[in-house]
Amino acid sequence: SIPRYVKIVEVGPRDGLQNEKEIVPTAVKVKLIEMLVSSGLPVVEATSFVSPKWVPQSSNLRLADAKDVIEAIQGLEGARFPVLTPNLKGFEAAVAAGVKEVAIFAAASESFSKSNINCSIEDSLARYHDVTLAAKKLSIPVRGYISCVVGCPVEGAVAPSKVAYVAKELFEMGCYEISLGDTIGVGTPGTVIPMIKSVINVVPVEKLAVPFHDTYGQALSNILASLQMGISTVDSSVSGLGGCPYAKGASGNVATEDVVYMLNGLRVEANVDLQKVILAGDFICKHLGRSSGSKTAVAFCRT
Ligand code: HMG
Repeated sequence: SIPRYVKIVEVGPRDGLQNEKEIVPTAVKVKLIEMLVSSGLPVVEATSFVSPKWVPQSSNLRLADAKDVIEAIQGLEGARFPVLTPNLKGFEAAVAAGVKEVAIFAAASESFSKSNINCSIEDSLARYHDVTLAAKKLSIPVRGYISCVVGCPVEGAVAPSKVAYVAKELFEMGCYEISLGDTIGVGTPGTVIPMIKSVINVVPVEKLAVPFHDTYGQALSNILASLQMGISTVDSSVSGLGGCPYAKGASGNVATEDVVYMLNGLRVEANVDLQKVILAGDFICKHLGRSSGSKTAVAFCRT
């Protein structure tokens, strides 16, 4: 059986835009967030407070307006707006900007941890321990991400036990939800199911989320397999935008439109208006001068 309600966490404004070559104006990001919220999406990851020095070609200057984005959406109601914070510095900047929820991001592979956040897995956990402690004092909820849960661009296959270890650590330090990222999209139900089984041994299934990437066209089948295992939170990105800058060859996240279409077909509630998500996707794709990465959006435009 599958859950009757699925919470969709929209990551488009952050994950979707973090790797764009051209800087997207703050007003466009804000309008995108507004359109996504108006579709009924309950959680919209807004931006990230990361080091502008770190991402190649200063690409995270594209997120240099994090504070402005947060200020512009302060009055927006109907959704939660978590942001990524890689360390205390990012956490403090986020809180100062008015953020009410944050996300920390670790990895299940050492190489990816090093290339994404410049430290080992153990060091990142110590760093995140400080962030979760600070967050607890301010009653700020913290979400945890784990990258490379089935495969790493450098190390290849990742053992489920490594994912379970990091998941348990993040859960024990207080993350209310752990998102299991197949960052490069190499997973199939053949590898995803054993990974989830291993994590469920240490973290309750209702605390887990899945953000699949469609690099090999496996995202929806992986999501369905996850739902069948009891997971009821799915991360997705409008029009399938985005992917991690350090995950070579990682094409987009699974498109929110495609997830909503599948959930509608399964009669699983998500309380999201598909047509409104398609409009939001159309808006951002027109701005980026690109066609949609959502098959559902493309199909609806044809009919
Ligand atoms: P570092 O270079 O080791 O950090 O980077 P540092 O502490 O040595 O600081 C270096 C400089 O950066 C200093 O400036 C700091 O002040 C500054 P200086 O003193 O030289 O002038 N700095 C900051 N500035 C602004 N905000 C901050 C911050 N921290 C330090 N928060 C660090 C370590 C973690 C900061 C860096 O590696 C980083 O920012 N990494 C983030 C990379 C990133 O954004 N990746 C994409 C998101 S993750 C993702 O997409 C995966 C996910 O979607 C799940 C999945 O699908 O896999 C979540």
